[in-house]
Amino acid sequence: MEFKDPASYTDLSQGKIKHIDFHIHVDFSTRTFDIEAKYQLQGPVHGSLFLDSFRIDLKEARTNHKELEWEFDPEDEFLGQRLQLKGFVGDSTFTLKFRTSPEARALQWLSANQTVGGKYPFLFSQCQAIHARSIFPCQDSPSVRFTYSAEVEVPQELVAAMAAEQLEIQEGKHTTFLFKMPQPIPSYLFALAVGNLTFRELGPRTGIYAEPETIEAAAWEFAENETKIVEAEKLLGPYLWGRYDLLVLPPSFPYGGMENPRLTFLTPTAILGTRGHLSLITHELAHAWTGNLVTNATWQDFWLNEGWTTYAETRITEILEGTDSKDLHLAFNEKQLIAIMERVGMNSPQTCLKLPPEKDVDSFATSIPYYKGCFFLQECEYAVGRERFDEFIQKYMASFQFQSLTTEAFLDFLKAELPLVFEKVDVHKWIYEPALPEEWHRPKSHLYDEVQEALYDYEKGIKPTKEQIQNWHRYQVLSFLQGLPKKIPVEDCQYFDDILELEKRNDVAFFSFFYIICIMSGYEAILPRVEQFMGKIGRMLYVLPIVRAMIETDWSRDKVRPLFERVRDRHHQITVNAVEGLLKKAGL
Ligand code: BES
Ligand code: ZN
Repeated sequence: MEFKDPASYTDLSQGKIKHIDFHIHVDFSTRTFDIEAKYQLQGPVHGSLFLDSFRIDLKEARTNHKELEWEFDPEDEFLGQRLQLKGFVGDSTFTLKFRTSPEARALQWLSANQTVGGKYPFLFSQCQAIHARSIFPCQDSPSVRFTYSAEVEVPQELVAAMAAEQLEIQEGKHTTFLFKMPQPIPSYLFALAVGNLTFRELGPRTGIYAEPETIEAAAWEFAENETKIVEAEKLLGPYLWGRYDLLVLPPSFPYGGMENPRLTFLTPTAILGTRGHLSLITHELAHAWTGNLVTNATWQDFWLNEGWTTYAETRITEILEGTDSKDLHLAFNEKQLIAIMERVGMNSPQTCLKLPPEKDVDSFATSIPYYKGCFFLQECEYAVGRERFDEFIQKYMASFQFQSLTTEAFLDFLKAELPLVFEKVDVHKWIYEPALPEEWHRPKSHLYDEVQEALYDYEKGIKPTKEQIQNWHRYQVLSFLQGLPKKIPVEDCQYFDDILELEKRNDVAFFSFFYIICIMSGYEAILPRVEQFMGKIGRMLYVLPIVRAMIETDWSRDKVRPLFERVRDRHHQITVNAVEGLLKKAGL
C-alpha cells in the first residue's frame, strides 16, 4: 500500500536500511557519542539516499570503494535535517563516522546529583516518536525495520543496558558491552542507558535493572512479571523477543513507561510499595505484541499501537485483577477521554483515530488514540463475540508480525476476517470522524458509581470521611479527584490532602490531580510543593496538566514561566519542548 510518512524525510523508493553495526563511545565529559556505524541496505542503491538527522556532526561517509559526498538541508524545527548521501553506484553497504550533539533530543545526560545514589552520572535515550535521528542518521519512520549489533564503550565503573540481547562484557581502559538485536525493529525502538546499574533476576525470562539503592524495592514491586507474560501470551500469542526485563530510570523520565523491546524503560514513580501500579507494566508488556511486533506505519496510525495496547491491557487486567478492577479503569478512562476531547475541541481532527499529517508528532500524541482506540476495539469484540474476536487477535498478530501497517491496511484485514463488524459498528465514524459516536457500550462500574455517590454527597455539603475512603481502590481515589469540582474552598483542599493521605502514599498521579484542584481553587500556599514536584518529576502525563492549570488560572499565570525556568535544567528535552510549547501558545 502506498503511503507517505509526514514525520520523516525517508524516500522508500531509494531503498531500505536492513542492518546496522554500531560502535558507540559514550563520553560523559562532552555529553556526546562518537559513533561509527556500518549500514547494510536491502538492495543496491543508485544515486542518492535521504536520511533523517538532528544536529549530527558527520565526519566521514564512504562505501567499500569510495568516499560519499553529503549535504544537510536547513533544520526544520520538528523534523531536523534531511541528510542526503550522494554518489551511490549500486552499493548495498556504507559507513558513517559522526558525533552526536549535546542537544540530541533523544538523550538525557544526568549529573550524579540527579540520581538516587548521587555518585555516578546517568544517561538514557528516548527515541519515540522521532528522536532516533538525533543519535544516528536513519530512515526514522516506523515503516522501516532493521536489525543491529552494538559495541558500547563506557567509563569503567558504569554499566550499559540496551533494548537488545547482551552478549559479553570486555574490561579494559573503558568497559565495552556487546549487544545484538536479532529481531528487526523500527528506529523508535532503539534504546540505550548507562549508569550505576545492577541487575536482579525476577523469573526465568524476567529481570530488572536499577541503581543499587532502588533494586530491592523495584524487584519486590514487579515480582509478578513472569505471570503477566504467561497471561499475555494466552491472549496475543507467543512472546517472540526472548527476555523481558525492566530498567528503572531517574524520575525525570518523560513517560511512565517506554516499551523498548526486551527492556521496558520505567519511571521510578511506579514503585509505590503496593504493587499497585501494575497496569503500567501490563501496558508496556502488551506493546511487545501491539506496537513492537505489529507496528503503526506512520504516527498518524498511532492508535494501532496505543489503542490496541490499551485494549490488551484491559483484557490482561481483567484476568489478573478481576472484572471490577477492569470496569473501574474503563469508567475512569472514559471520563479522561471526554475531558481531553473537550480540551482539544470535540471537532478537532486530533479526536479522530486516524490522525492528521502533522510534523509535531510528540504534541499530537494525546491519550485519545489510547482510550478511543480501546473503546473502538471493544465495540468490534461486542459485534462478533469474545471467542471469535480472540481468534481474530491471534491471527492479526501472526499475519503481521515484524511488519508495519497503516489504518487502512488494518481495516482491509478486519473486513476480510470479520465482515460482521462492519454491519454492526460504524467503523468509518470511529476511525475518521471526530469525538465519539452517540451509541456504544459505555463502561459501567459499581466501584466508580460508589465514588460518584461520594461526589454527589460532597456537592450537597457532606464530605467523605477518612474511614470511608480508606479501602478505596487506587483508581477510586483517582476517580474521586477526577470528579471533584475544579474550584473548591481552600479548607477543603487541606481536608482532602489529609484524608487522602497524599504525602504518605506518595503517588504522583494523586499529586498531579490534587495540585490542579489546589491551583484552580486559589490555594496559593501549595506553590512550594508544586515547585518541588516540577523539579523532580518529568512524566508528562502528570506535569503538563499542572502547567496548563497554572496558565489558565489568574493568580498563577505569571508564576509558571519563572517556576519552570528554575527547574528546566532537570528535565529531558522532550519535556522542555512540550512545556515550552504550552507557554509559548499562552504568550508566556
Ligand atoms: N509508547 C508510550 C510512550 C510514548 C508515547 C512515548 C508517544 C513517545 C511518544 C508508552 O507505551 C505509554 O503509553 N506510556 C504511558 C503509560 C501508559 C500506562 C498509558 C505514559 O508514559 O504515560
Ligand atoms: Zn503505550
